[in-house]
Amino acid sequence: MKFTTVKGTRDILPDEIISWRYVENVIHDTMVSFNYKEIRTPLFEKTELFARSIGEHTDIVTKEMYTFKDHSKTKLTLKPELTAPVVRAYIQHNLSQLGPLAKLYYIAPLFRQERPQAGRFRQFHQYGVEAIGSPYPEQDVELILLAKAIYERIGISGYTIKLNSVGDPVCRKDYVERLKKALKPSLNLLCKNCRFRYDKNPMRIFDCKEERCREIFQERAPVIADFLCENCKQHFEAVKRHLDDLGFQYTIDPHMVRGLDYYTSTTFEFISKELGAQDALCGGGRYDLLVQELGGKPTPAAGFAAGIERLLMVMNRQQIKVQDEKPLQVFIIPMGVQFIDSALRLIDRLRNKGFSCEMDHLRRSLKSQMREANRQKVKFTVIIGDEEMKRGTITVKNMENGVQESIPEQKLEDYLLNTLKK
Ligand code: HAM
Repeated sequence: MKFTTVKGTRDILPDEIISWRYVENVIHDTMVSFNYKEIRTPLFEKTELFARSIGEHTDIVTKEMYTFKDHSKTKLTLKPELTAPVVRAYIQHNLSQLGPLAKLYYIAPLFRQERPQAGRFRQFHQYGVEAIGSPYPEQDVELILLAKAIYERIGISGYTIKLNSVGDPVCRKDYVERLKKALKPSLNLLCKNCRFRYDKNPMRIFDCKEERCREIFQERAPVIADFLCENCKQHFEAVKRHLDDLGFQYTIDPHMVRGLDYYTSTTFEFISKELGAQDALCGGGRYDLLVQELGGKPTPAAGFAAGIERLLMVMNRQQIKVQDEKPLQVFIIPMGVQFIDSALRLIDRLRNKGFSCEMDHLRRSLKSQMREANRQKVKFTVIIGDEEMKRGTITVKNMENGVQESIPEQKLEDYLLNTLKK
């Protein structure tokens, strides 16, 4: 039997790792420059954490979670997102003691049992942030600035920003009533899922991807902007004003509710036309009630998360090439098995001094070892043979310019450092 990866999952092979590392480094550096601190949470959590926070009637909770019972019959779920685990950690470890505003970030694999397609996987990776403690619009704006800074530093372009406010439970109450009223006459034209959601959690109908349902919403559904209470309205106006002032282009998408129940007021998404149907590069918003709902003190919060695979897809399409940051420096060539001891001693010495080194473990001929060094685009080859041993020297070849020199063995590190500096 031949084993292959499970549907919707993929191996990240050495060739791709160069881009992954590059992207991860840009993310870490940008997070530091925005003063966010890294947090890492377990791969699985109690199922209830996700059901309570993401919402029982969302696609994630009803269809997509990988849930299992452990030996003690506790129901556990591989994390499908990270806002709830980070809020759980914030409450559990009383992270408010770190200061009135906890600015946290993460890079992690997540799991959703979705139908795989281009840009949609069952195991995928997100980076994201949760800023817990500020109720103010400038915090929402910082999230958008941060999302944009990462894309700018990486060099991708051609994305648009969608913005909305989903209000708070007060304004949503009136809105939901009007929404139900407006859709009632078309109820039998909506899909089964939408009809179910109409009863249980009407705003979730906007997650429906069916063309027919979407046309009906477009035509009939009221927009929440018309129902925002004074607080939510002012908050949203301030977010837009700051973005205008910063010269940001964005569009308002009045039906963008996002697929998770915890949002209040601002929501946003970055959309890339390079991505096809799964076009969201990142998404987030404010969730002022979640900390309290999960058992903490009332604490406003906002955050966003972004798919790394989707970012890499856009980089690929836009031909953003990433160089291997640390190519191999030295390839040591023993000219026969009798020189393997000397080669091992030398390679150990160089590696301990911080050089990246390789030697042949296949006992190949001088010619094949040279060919291998060329294939690996190494900077120097170092040859150890009879002549060299007699004279206490080694032969170093600079593979970039072809210059070959014989130098005292003890001087090798200085020689390499001096030549690398030039
Ligand atoms: P989300 O919109 O579910 O939000 O996911 C955020 C991003 O993760 C998406 O925009 C997309 O780039 C990527 N993504 C989601 N599902 C998949 C998938 N199956 N395959 C590949 N990429 C995917 C959240 O997860 C919220 N927790 C974001 C947030 C943080 N809101 C506040 N704080």
